[in-house]
Amino acid sequence: MSTPTFFTELPEHSLVILIGASGAGKSTLVRTWPASQVLSLDALREAVSDAGDQDATGAAVAVLHLLLEARMRRRLFTVIDATNVTSSARAPLVAAAKRHNMLPIAVMVSTPGTVCVERQGPRPANRTVPKDVVLQQYRDMVNSHTSLASEGFAEVILADSLGWLLPYPKRLGEKRTAELGLDGGGGLGDLLLVRRTFGEEILPLWRWLDSDIAGGDRVGEVRLGQRRLILALRTDVDGEGDIGFDVLVPCPHNDQCIARAWAPAYSVTSLFRALNGDLDDDEDSVCTLHGPKTLLSQDDDVLVEAR
Ligand SMILES: Nc1ncnc2c1ncn2[C@@H]1O[C@H](COP(=O)(O)OP(=O)(O)OP(=O)(O)O)[C@@H](O)[C@H]1O
Ligand SMILES: [Mg+2]
Repeated sequence: MSTPTFFTELPEHSLVILIGASGAGKSTLVRTWPASQVLSLDALREAVSDAGDQDATGAAVAVLHLLLEARMRRRLFTVIDATNVTSSARAPLVAAAKRHNMLPIAVMVSTPGTVCVERQGPRPANRTVPKDVVLQQYRDMVNSHTSLASEGFAEVILADSLGWLLPYPKRLGEKRTAELGLDGGGGLGDLLLVRRTFGEEILPLWRWLDSDIAGGDRVGEVRLGQRRLILALRTDVDGEGDIGFDVLVPCPHNDQCIARAWAPAYSVTSLFRALNGDLDDDEDSVCTLHGPKTLLSQDDDVLVEAR
């Protein structure tokens, strides 16, 4: 039976163990698998130490073994994202697979050591592995090749031969097709605009409202607990047919004004600024009673100049 991944050549009941130096491209490769199938040592380092420091490795490995055991017991296809360049790191992984009659498969990410070292350059300090460590990892990876079969691996594959670029855009494309509703489903509809403007993370807080407070334009809210922001979806910004959001703010002219005022909300930063009160006096805000803030001050200038 084939796996639920797109790597149809890998059996369903496999434990895929990546082997490669830091910077070899293991985490880049695993992004082509569904996230739930991946156990990442880096992610677990962060889970136990926030910053993901190297000195959290022991604790992270212990958690990784625990999670692996739980997945193997369920005989779930799993990928391990860690360097795994030594037989002592690999042995407990292979043993866990064998305990549950899963197939341990080694995938070697054999990017040259010098390239792995170069790739450390742009990384933040806590994610940088020293040059001599990376080169040793590379040598260990090369040397491990001959012993993998005797360690119990059912198969040894070179990552380059996986043809892994194809399935990634395929999966992303399918997700996109569903979001656009082109697969016959409902799709995200206008939520696509919400996501494009404010980001994916805002979607769970977003709700469309049945309200006519925006002169006929669609109204939505971003709510968490007691606090909320009201937004209007404008479909003809500046009379030029552009699409964008306004956020409800206090009147920029008069504290006592009870009319609604709107300020453009360009991104999630605008939402933060609106909640923080930074948009209360925004120069682009428009009160439905007093009009635009800037226009009035320009008029003031004209009046001043006219005097
Ligand atoms: N096939 C590739 N071609 C070009 N660049 C790549 C490739 N694979 C990965 N990279 C780049 O190399 C860098 C390191 O990749 P990645 O983080 O996947 O390495 P890693 O093996 O997971 O390292 P670590 O063990 O330190 O977590 C990233 O900047 C990534 O974009
Ligand atoms: Mg990685």
